[in-house]
Amino acid sequence: MTEHDELLLSCDDYYFTAFGHQRDIPYTYDKDDWVIGLDEDKCEVNLDVSEAFRACFIAATRTGKTFIIRRVMDEAYHSGWTVAVLPDAKDEYKSSMGAVQKEFQKNLPLGEKPKGLKMRIFRPRFFRDIDDGQLPSKNEWAALELKDLTKTDLQTLINYTVLTPKQQLDFDDLWERMQETDTSTFEEIQTLCAECGYTKVWEKIRFINTCNLFDSRFRIDPVEVLKSKTVLVLNYEGFDKLDLKDNSLDQVFMSVWIRWIKDAKKNNEFSNLLIINDETARWVPRNGEPSCKKQILESIDVDAGFGVSWIFGFQRAESVPEGLVRQCKYKFIPYNADRNTLEGYLKGENIIQNMVVDQKQYREYITTLKAKKFRWMKLTKGDQDVEFLDPYSPVSAHMKTRRFF
Ligand SMILES: Nc1ncnc2c1ncn2[C@@H]1O[C@H](COP(=O)(O)OP(=O)(O)OP(=O)(O)O)[C@@H](O)[C@H]1O
Ligand SMILES: [Mg+2]
Repeated sequence: MTEHDELLLSCDDYYFTAFGHQRDIPYTYDKDDWVIGLDEDKCEVNLDVSEAFRACFIAATRTGKTFIIRRVMDEAYHSGWTVAVLPDAKDEYKSSMGAVQKEFQKNLPLGEKPKGLKMRIFRPRFFRDIDDGQLPSKNEWAALELKDLTKTDLQTLINYTVLTPKQQLDFDDLWERMQETDTSTFEEIQTLCAECGYTKVWEKIRFINTCNLFDSRFRIDPVEVLKSKTVLVLNYEGFDKLDLKDNSLDQVFMSVWIRWIKDAKKNNEFSNLLIINDETARWVPRNGEPSCKKQILESIDVDAGFGVSWIFGFQRAESVPEGLVRQCKYKFIPYNADRNTLEGYLKGENIIQNMVVDQKQYREYITTLKAKKFRWMKLTKGDQDVEFLDPYSPVSAHMKTRRFF
């Protein structure tokens, strides 16, 4: 930016209008520093992303988590990051292919032009049986091949833990044989099981072949998608309707894709990677051990060094493991969260203790800020200060209302 540009930017809108000027300095995106909104004094609030980070948005339903996550996603995408939404639990992200709606444009930063982003949305093939077999608009089918699974994936799918010890040994032996013979089809597994008398194990494996998880015609390589500067989205809307939960198809599908994507990142196949995991309590619940939970927690622990960043969105801090919240460099909570909620968020942290200790004092403090819907508090690890944030709009379109609202 030249000195002249800076001078123009520092001028008040009044002078622009009075002298008939236009603000035409284009907004620039910075891959190390994303601008996400304004504080109560109208100063910009930024996210320092020069190093891989974890951030979470913790707030009740309809408070704007997805709205602000989209703003962050747009900054990431337009500043050259690689972005994956794993998963999109409500098929909401497809609206981001368009430019943000008129009513939100007043909340864009100066000089920023509304624009959509390049995105491909995949619907695992096991959803074929709902929505009358129709693919949702702007979605594409995706499937896996048998050879994409690790032993753990296959164990999860056949619900290995409920097998008898003998059946588990049979499975382990079968897996060894599959590796030795390079088995890649269900027919081959059936033959192996028949030869060895592994009837029960075959029954389980045969069942998963009926769930439309595998279909080589629809096998997608998510890494190739990401390499073409395209946001990758996995649409899981309506999974509960499928009645396939016991087989963890959703978990395994996501695990396979996360594994490939992370490996590609470790091999430096693309730029800084941001994985968005909205509705986190479902994939990484505090109680329960769905198979992708372990993988995501592991990634949070070890992948920062490889340039993998994570964003989480969930409603209550207690619904996800404490470790996940603790690992987040940035935490965002609604500015008017009540005392219990605040204490929950801030437990064990040395931030704004006084505000938490005395609810009355805290209330007095926040009422000095003009009550504003959709205002957030930004808490940064190791930083005593709290920033208040009125988010900028996403630059790509935002799904405004969903049914029943
Ligand atoms: N900063 C904002 N400015 C204006 N409108 C907003 C803002 N944030 C959210 N909204 C509006 O509030 C509604 C809810 O937002 P959003 O879907 O992002 O909430 P959410 O917390 O993700 O909800 P859920 O938990 O149901 O997923 C939307 O209609 C959205 O347009
Ligand atoms: Mg949401």
